[in-house]
Amino acid sequence: MNIIFTFFYFLFLPYVRMRGKTLPVNTVEEMKKRIIVEKPGTLTSFLEKFNEYMHVIAGDREAIKRIAREFVEDKAKEGVIYVEVRYSPHLLANSGVKEIPWNQEEGDLSPDEVVRLVNEGLSEGEREFKIKARSILCCMRHMPSWSKDVVELCKKYKDEGVVAIDLAGDESLNCEANPEHMEAYEEAVRCGIHRTVHAGEVGPASVVKEAVEVLKAERVGHGYRTLEDDDLYKKLLAQNMHFETCPISSKLTGACNADFTTHPVITFMKDKANYSLNTDDPLIFNSNLHHDYQTAHQHMGFTEEEFKRLNICSAQSSFLPAKEKEELLKTLNEAYEMIQSTAF
Ligand SMILES: *[C@@H]1O[C@H](CO)[C@@H](O)[C@H](O)[C@H]1NC(C)=O
Repeated sequence: MNIIFTFFYFLFLPYVRMRGKTLPVNTVEEMKKRIIVEKPGTLTSFLEKFNEYMHVIAGDREAIKRIAREFVEDKAKEGVIYVEVRYSPHLLANSGVKEIPWNQEEGDLSPDEVVRLVNEGLSEGEREFKIKARSILCCMRHMPSWSKDVVELCKKYKDEGVVAIDLAGDESLNCEANPEHMEAYEEAVRCGIHRTVHAGEVGPASVVKEAVEVLKAERVGHGYRTLEDDDLYKKLLAQNMHFETCPISSKLTGACNADFTTHPVITFMKDKANYSLNTDDPLIFNSNLHHDYQTAHQHMGFTEEEFKRLNICSAQSSFLPAKEKEELLKTLNEAYEMIQSTAF
């Protein structure tokens, strides 16, 4: 029974067949070969994979809703009982966006409607697969002009499944040069919208510092390179800051050394830090949550007790309202007491 904060699959494979004509391939297998990252590369080469297929999905109402619903199905199968999934509404739209993404032609699907479709898909999935799914809307570092819309969408859909704002993308683009991100986060603070920021994944510890101090992030996405600034790390430990870690992802994006035995997550574990284990993008990494847990168990010395502890931390750090958080914690605690020890 797990809690995760993760990224969308961003693709449902049967769709490749239906819309094969607009893709450079005809079969799901060929598509997988093009997009799956098998060996450690760079964050940029990972992000380039989206160019292979996002133009097929963005702007397509049916596809977007179906991906959201099937995402919940997949998480339920992985034993997840609560998930927060993040995506950029603008990157799935083809209208009402400054600079339409993926070289698409202008269409009629706005970021606002994208959020509605995803909410519908997630809700259908929740009812069907009996788990809880919430979403986080991403600002993109290279597109400061979208950030105001993003926070407005967070406000508008606060009671319909959207629980927080995120900032993703190229960490070399810091916020001081892009006041629009700062303004969006200020508005989030003002309106009680929860905040997380991708920081210290490949960018230096200073990006983490900025995320926490300037953007008032309540959780740090990845955060591995926080460890390079000892003072900052100690401070964040003392504050119980939550780190959303993604072991498999960090290896394949080149964010961390490919040798898992020296992974920053081990330091988080030893220091009893507040962190979660997440999948990041399971499609491109051809992975799932079991793979992350297995890796932590086999190569990082994680025990059943630590898995339980980190899931409790995840639930405590979730962006659910207090009452729902309590219910989630109760469910977890009851399940963990019953399962004294499960064979891994
Ligand atoms: C993790 O953060 C949450 C939310 O702030 C808090 O409730 C919890 O006690 C923290 N856990 C640890 C181990 O610091």
